[in-house]
Amino acid sequence: MADKQRLLSGIKPTGRLHIGNYFGAMRQFVELQDKYTSYIFIADYHALTSVQNAESLQELILNTAIDYLAVGLNPKKVVLFKQSDVPQHTELAWIFNCITTMPYLQRSHVFKDAQAKNKEIDVGTFVYPMLMAADILLYSPDVVPVGADQKQHIEYARDTAQKFNNIFGETFKLPKEYTPKDSATIPGVDGQKMSKSYNNTIPLFGSRDDVEKAVMGIVTDSGGDFPQHVYAIHKLYKSEDELKNVYDDNKGNYKALKEALIADVEEVARPLREKREELTKDKAYVLSVLKEGGKIAREIAEEKMKEIREKIGVTLQ
Ligand code: TYM
Repeated sequence: MADKQRLLSGIKPTGRLHIGNYFGAMRQFVELQDKYTSYIFIADYHALTSVQNAESLQELILNTAIDYLAVGLNPKKVVLFKQSDVPQHTELAWIFNCITTMPYLQRSHVFKDAQAKNKEIDVGTFVYPMLMAADILLYSPDVVPVGADQKQHIEYARDTAQKFNNIFGETFKLPKEYTPKDSATIPGVDGQKMSKSYNNTIPLFGSRDDVEKAVMGIVTDSGGDFPQHVYAIHKLYKSEDELKNVYDDNKGNYKALKEALIADVEEVARPLREKREELTKDKAYVLSVLKEGGKIAREIAEEKMKEIREKIGVTLQ
């Protein structure tokens, strides 16, 4: 265990997970859990910029923990924890805020988008990349599996690590994202990036009816002989070789192609849903996993923070 490389990643508990989260990130967490010592967390303080109701946040956090376990993360192999259980994340974020300039943060896509839409941006959203840098750098991971939409945030973490190292001396390892090409950006039912905020998702744990509704709603833009948006999603479930026959046999028959996709989505979703239902009945177990994970994460984070506090000069000798 000690010699293994480290992996770290997180998900914001802001709503129902979709297949974009799964293929873009979670599947990698599961596939890599044997190879890496993995730290996977629930980014609940990040969610606070949009979820500001205690009951909802509690429910979303618990659901995300259940989702992680239902997709196959094994708490015996993975340290699974809640960001808010490790106060060192927010402590380090403050330190990063102090060495980062406003113009640098104003270059973030998230900030620019919000500005373009004339949205009033809260301070938490503005400094979001600094909390994310802290999440990552406390654990010195070798890889950070994320979808392409998070790449800029990893760059922020890398730049911030470098800036800190330049000011206070070598402290942080520069993190690398891990984004397999074929799942970097999962498209939604309208062909844009799948995202809760675009209302174009296929829910990961959705019932057959939910999946059917979403798939039947896929915009059937037929650039060539077959519906491109249906195919783009179908490719996640079957190899191009396997799909060739189905798409050749059903040229122009969009309904049949969508039905084939529903069956394939359902085949993956059913066991996940069943596992999820089982876990929902055992809240005590789920809470114990988070508690145990939080304990281990705090130890690692505190060891790193000791070094950081000494480097910046708040520790008196
Ligand atoms: P979040 O919660 O928005 O998304 C969780 C993960 O799902 C990926 N994802 C996608 N990948 C491909 N195609 C899509 N359509 C798609 N939609 C979502 C995201 O890229 C992400 O990997 N800021 C992060 C959470 C976070 C974090 C961290 C991640 C906080 N601290 C430290 C890694 C390391 C976020 O909001 O992800």
